[in-house]
This record gives sequence, structure tokens and C-alpha cells, in this order.
Amino acid sequence: PRRVPFLGPHQNGLTAPVAASGVLCALDVVAEGRDELAETLQAISAEVQRLMEGGAPPETDSIGPPPDNGVLGAEPPVADLSFVVSVGASLFDARFGLADERPRELVPMTRLANDRLDDGRTHGDLLLAVEGDSPDITLASLRQVLRQVRGTTVVRWVVEGHNRASPSAAAGEAPVRNLLGFKDGTANLDASDEALMDRHVWVGADDPEPAWAAGGSYQAVRTIRMFVELWDRTSLVEQEAVIGRHKVSGAPLGGTRETEVPDFSSDPDGEVTPLDAHIRLANPRTPETEADLILRRGLSYSRGVDGAGRLDQGLAFVSYQRSLRRGFLAVQERLAGEPLEEYVVPEGGGFFFALPGVPEDGGWLGQGLL
Ligand code: HEM
Repeated sequence: PRRVPFLGPHQNGLTAPVAASGVLCALDVVAEGRDELAETLQAISAEVQRLMEGGAPPETDSIGPPPDNGVLGAEPPVADLSFVVSVGASLFDARFGLADERPRELVPMTRLANDRLDDGRTHGDLLLAVEGDSPDITLASLRQVLRQVRGTTVVRWVVEGHNRASPSAAAGEAPVRNLLGFKDGTANLDASDEALMDRHVWVGADDPEPAWAAGGSYQAVRTIRMFVELWDRTSLVEQEAVIGRHKVSGAPLGGTRETEVPDFSSDPDGEVTPLDAHIRLANPRTPETEADLILRRGLSYSRGVDGAGRLDQGLAFVSYQRSLRRGFLAVQERLAGEPLEEYVVPEGGGFFFALPGVPEDGGWLGQGLL
């Protein structure tokens, strides 16, 4: 089984191939003072490292509670397990004296077009993003990390999600379909291309940011409910016009292969791809918008049924970018008012900053910050 390494200049969970299951868990920190916050991050980091590297749980005795929850058995199958640990804007308020260390663009998520945000599902001091082969792995691993920090953190919200890999996806094709039935990730940045990641995802050492932030990444999380019953009653022509791609093949409108690159400049009036199609607004493919490219890494989620008997499902949209303003916010601004809004409503999420990696054994996530 493949493992996602814990150590490295960046958190490898951002760029590892997408796994089948995921959980996002936002935490409020109730630690008192900076030392306790540092201990909290150290404890999270140590358990994340143990789980990702597949280390044995600490020795157990028959008197205390077993140090490992045991859900995964004696030798946890750690295949594909990864964590990404991030900090939210609220961590930089008066409590810990960290105001000067705040990544410059990190603010509490603002209200954006079409939003109906539920505060109980929005924001947080910390965010843990876990991915793995199956829900028992991700959930047991999350629980194992949370038990290390029971005294200093409170769970604020959790989103459980999944991604079904397309077994036949070849290079350049999307790894998954989302709950609208469209391929998701077709035109995403190639996370294995380090030069692209340096350009668009990782904060660089010369960026106008606190020194500790180099190697980290801004993370935008948007829990976006989808009105799936309405979508299922919508004609294929309309669905494809809303997205700007063919549903089955994933090809741009008018094309036949998913890997074809749409040429919007030869279609100035939107006769092939409507001017307000999702992909056309998200990425107009002009020289001026080239700097806005983002790395998307979302999860499909389900929360059962709402009070009106409709399925409560959606996309936990997650994107990583070197600049929140040039990345997520620039794209989101162009999407405001798009026809897709009729079928979705953002209900939660937040803006976070994924901590830089731990280059060597003995270090911990957040060490530079504290
Ligand atoms: C592309 C669906 C929200 C940014 C796509 C594609 C689909 C899709 C089907 C085409 C396949 C692909 O290239 O991955 C959705 C759905 C959403 C949603 C269902 C909400 C429930 C967002 C949000 C943003 C965003 C909130 C950012 C603010 C993008 C970008 C692309 C894209 C940048 C690539 C466009 C390209 O380069 O061609 N989305 N999306 N999407 N989406 Fe979304």
C-alpha cells in the first residue's frame, strides 16, 4: 500500500493523489496562552506523524484506557492516509498574541454571492483535513488525533465526504465525478508538477508574508449544498450549458475528448460555450487570469435529509492557493451570479492557512509560527 509521507517542506496531503474518503474537522482552541497552544499543535503533529507513518501505538497497560482506539486493529492499514493541518484567522486574535504573525490575506470568510452561511458550520481556529482509503480509516484516525487534545480544543464542525475514483481515468482525465454527475478535476492544476505548485499553491519565501508562512498555502473551504432533485429534473442540454462541459465525456462543449482545451477566444459570443458557463467564468483562459489558477481538492458529502424531505448533499469545495485574493477570491468574484447558483447554496466553510511542512524528524506542524 502507498503511503503519503509526513515529512517534507510542504504538507504532502495537499498534493497526494485524491483518496476515496475524507473528513474535514474544524476546531476551536480553548488553550490558555501561547505555551498551551504550542503543546496542542505539538500533540496534533506527533499523532498525525505516527498515523501517517504507520508507527505502533504507545505501550498499553490494563489500568488506563488503551492509547489507540483500536478501530483499525493492531496494525493500522495506513494506505493513503493523509492529514492537512491548517489555522484559521481567529487563531490570530488577541488570545495568543499572534496578530503580527497572521498571514496577510487570512481573514474570517466573508459573505459571498449566494451564501446562506450557518455559523455552526463555518470558521474555526484549526482545520484538520483527513483523507484515506475508507471512512473507518479517516474517522478512526481523526478520533485518535482529537483525543490527544481533548483539554484544549472543542470540535466546531465536521463534514464527512467521499470521492469515487474513476477506475478508467487516464493521465489528464478527472479522477472523480461530483454529485452533479460531472467529472470533477479535469482542468485542475497537476499537483505532481512541482514548478506549478511553487507558482500557484505554495507561499514563497519572498512573498509579502510572515517568514514562518513560506511553504504553506491559503485554503478556502466552502460547504456547498446541491439541490440534487432539482438537478435531476433538469435537461441534459441545460446541465451542460451550466457547467460548460459534456456530462458523459467531460469534453468541453463542442468537443469529444475530456483532455481537449477549450478555445474561448474563437467563440466570443458564447455560441459554443455560454459566456456564463461555470468553466468559462472560472477560467476564461486569458493572459490576465492565468495567475488565478487554484488547486481544487473537494469532497462530496451527504448529511441525510432536510426538513422538506430533500436529500441534503453537496460538495465540500476545498482549494489551495498561494494568494487568497488572486486565487479563490478572484475566481469566486467571476462566478458571482452564474447559472449554477440556482442549483446550489453555500452553507459553511471558512478561510484557513495550511501550515508549512515538517522537513525533518523532531519538528512539528506550526513550530515556525510559535
Ligand atoms: C471546474 C463543478 C464550485 C472553481 C468545474 C467543473 C465542474 C465543476 C463539473 C468542470 C470539471 C473540472 O475542470 O474540474 C462545480 C460545482 C460546484 C463548483 C458542482 C459547486 C457545488 C466551484 C467554486 C469554485 C470553482 C466555488 C471557485 C471559486 C472551478 C475552477 C474550475 C472548475 C477554477 C476549472 C475551470 C477550468 O479551468 O476549466 N467545477 N464547481 N468551482 N471549478 Fe467548479
